[in-house]
Amino acid sequence: MSVDKNQENKQIVRAKYREYNRIKRYRYRPESEWSTAMKGDDTILEVEDLRTCFYTSSATIPAVDGISFSVGRGKVIGIVGESGCGKSVTGLSIMGLLPGPRGQISGGTIRYWQERKQRAVELTRLGTRQYGAFRGSEIAMIFQEPMTALDPLFPVGKQIDECLRFHNKVLSPAERRNLIRRLLASVGIGRDGIYNSYPFELSGGMLQRVLIAIALCGDPKLIIADEPTTALDVTIQAQILLLLKNLQKERGISMLFISHDLGVIAGIADEVIVMYAGCIAEQGTVREIFDTPCHPYTAALMRCRPDLERETDMLEAIPGTVPDLRTISGGCHFQPRCVHFGKLCTDRCPPYYWVSKTHRISCFYRLKKLR
Ligand SMILES: Nc1ncnc2c1ncn2[C@@H]1O[C@H](COP(=O)(O)OP(=O)(O)OP(=O)(O)O)[C@@H](O)[C@H]1O
Ligand SMILES: [Mg+2]
Repeated sequence: MSVDKNQENKQIVRAKYREYNRIKRYRYRPESEWSTAMKGDDTILEVEDLRTCFYTSSATIPAVDGISFSVGRGKVIGIVGESGCGKSVTGLSIMGLLPGPRGQISGGTIRYWQERKQRAVELTRLGTRQYGAFRGSEIAMIFQEPMTALDPLFPVGKQIDECLRFHNKVLSPAERRNLIRRLLASVGIGRDGIYNSYPFELSGGMLQRVLIAIALCGDPKLIIADEPTTALDVTIQAQILLLLKNLQKERGISMLFISHDLGVIAGIADEVIVMYAGCIAEQGTVREIFDTPCHPYTAALMRCRPDLERETDMLEAIPGTVPDLRTISGGCHFQPRCVHFGKLCTDRCPPYYWVSKTHRISCFYRLKKLR
């Protein structure tokens, strides 16, 4: 990076850090600042043109670069993509859990429908305390690594108890213990003694169930599940998926399910978002994405899956790697790895083209083919 650019970046970082510290001072903000209206009729979450950046001394990293989507009430939206494409950062942005001041939402809106109070809330405009009250009781997150998400120094029962105490201040210790037993039974670990077990005494599948129990403590209406089955073997993976599916149906919870496994997404989601380098490459219903993938990236991801009906000696791989977000160019982000790229792709980022009412892609090439 040239000296001028470096200097410019340092100035941006300083300004952003100052801005962050100023905003973080507001614990409560007046309703007029965060009150909003949902655009869709039956949506619980609407993300519009969300931009999240990491401001580092060497560069500004656009981890999420202008994504828009909505989650219908009681629906499961799957987010899929390679490592580093911004799936977790999307989840953390919605939860307001970005590692600030380095990580910040730099633009866009996140609207949430608060069913209990029958009002729409602009999450990015909430004060820190107000956001805290939302977390867990309205939107909960199941974190990516069950082994590291729990504190190794406390029994799992105590960790669930801490969350319950936060959300239910009126419950007595005996009532909470009872509730924890019921919660653990509902996630399939009803055996005695689990309350006093430390995380290292439990298997990966059990830890994942504990994390799900923690997420359910505040009776949330939306759960963001960040790769909840990645660290598990296939049989446990299937059990956890079934558990999540059942809980989602029974409680009418909406879910944002993040995974890099297309098979898992196909099994649980109603709609799929394919992300690449911080952008949405393609979005559609499960049927549309799996039967007629239109973006070259989605099609390449599909070819990378093992397929019993296809005779092949080797699994395919997408040549190249996910681009370094610090030096990303202005054209289509997938262009350097795309076999179909043309002149248009290097010039500018493709806008969204609608293939059907529910299916959109961000690619010039497929648009030409489809016409
Ligand atoms: N704390 C951080 N500091 C700087 N950059 C970060 C930080 N966290 C994430 N990033 C940037 O954001 C990008 C997206 O990260 P993210 O964790 O969302 O990827 P992901 O899609 O969840 O990948 P995985 O499948 O491996 O979990 C990373 O490539 C990285 O450049
Ligand atoms: Mg991740």
